Amino acid sequence: MFAKEGLQGVVAARTGLSRIDGERGVLAYRGYSIDDLARHASFEEVVHLLWHGELPNRAALDETRRGLAQQRLLSPGVAELVQACARDGGPMDVLRTAVSAMAVGDPDLHESTREANLRKGCRIAAQIPTAIALHDRSRKGQPAVRPDPELGHAANFLWMMTGRRPEDLAVRCLDVAMVLQMDHGLNASTFAARVAAGTLADLHAALTAAIATLKGPLHGGANHDVMVMLRTIGDPERAADYVRGALAQKRKIPGFGHRVYKTLDPRAVHLKELSARLAQATGQETWYRMSTLIEATCKEVKNLNANVDFYAASTYSMLGFDMDLFTPIFAASRAPGWIAHVIEQHTDNRLIRPLEEYIGPPDRPWVPMEERS
Ligand code: COA
Repeated sequence: MFAKEGLQGVVAARTGLSRIDGERGVLAYRGYSIDDLARHASFEEVVHLLWHGELPNRAALDETRRGLAQQRLLSPGVAELVQACARDGGPMDVLRTAVSAMAVGDPDLHESTREANLRKGCRIAAQIPTAIALHDRSRKGQPAVRPDPELGHAANFLWMMTGRRPEDLAVRCLDVAMVLQMDHGLNASTFAARVAAGTLADLHAALTAAIATLKGPLHGGANHDVMVMLRTIGDPERAADYVRGALAQKRKIPGFGHRVYKTLDPRAVHLKELSARLAQATGQETWYRMSTLIEATCKEVKNLNANVDFYAASTYSMLGFDMDLFTPIFAASRAPGWIAHVIEQHTDNRLIRPLEEYIGPPDRPWVPMEERS
């Protein structure tokens, strides 16, 4: 039987990682509500939860923090490659290339046991922000900033981007944003990672496939397109008319709609809160105010709800990131989730190979060259 286009409604994997209830707008990681995790947990705590199944006690959290903090330096080869791509490479293309290159020389490359995947996963998750920051600073002609093992994951990310000690509010906002985006069921990039892992390809291969898939504007690329839209509108007073016009022309509004959520995306609620806090703290009210007007108009005209990418755009912009870094930040946030899914897939693997429905011509006789029209 042919599944709906885009595999809508098809259950294609079993997972113990995240539970989504699209009707009620619920998301939970290993049974813990995203609302509680956003309010109380740190990036490293949630990484531990996804990778080991339980919230860490103090000692286990320290160990996860240390593990990530000690693995942040890129190998000389990867660093050189990232810098060589600095001038012409787009940040997502460079990140995908860097993660693929991290396989070279990895001592666990050909092992896919849970322990080997955790070791490799720790290195990859730790080094993704370093690769993003190194590329961004290189393309701006700025010297690289060495990771600081005393800082947490989010604080160190901001430190490596700017070379300045980040404010507590900025650290908390990035930390929460990364928690909110860490896992989300069988979304397209996670599915890509699991398909690759299902062939028993290694973790680096699976993560390269995931990053490639996240790039598209119907998935992670939407946060970049939201910022393009905000800039195009330019003035909050024009937001409602812009949205009405776009919807009348049947154009998609980036950052709205979702395959699974039929109500408000619970992650959008928290990202809206972060965006509001940053707007108030920085006095940069424009993007936030414009975003609330777009949201209200989408709801009024087509009953469309904001998704995770909508308020991520204004949040990242107020944190000082260029808009072509928004999707790479999403990748840095989602990486621990992809890694947990690859571990799940490798633990109880079966090749993922669906059927196709053939819609080409019926069988026909071979035609020699001289008889072809
Ligand atoms: N803007 C305007 N209309 C939208 C919309 C949006 N962002 N998202 C969905 N719709 C409308 C469609 O036009 C369609 O309306 P119709 O029935 O009148 O034709 C209906 O809602 C269903 O949309 P469809 O694209 O078929 O849903 P999908 O499940 O295939 O797609 C997305 C889901 C996420 C790809 C889609 O909502 C989208 O393209 N959103 C914008 C990109 C984005 O934000 N992606 C990040 C997702 S987290």
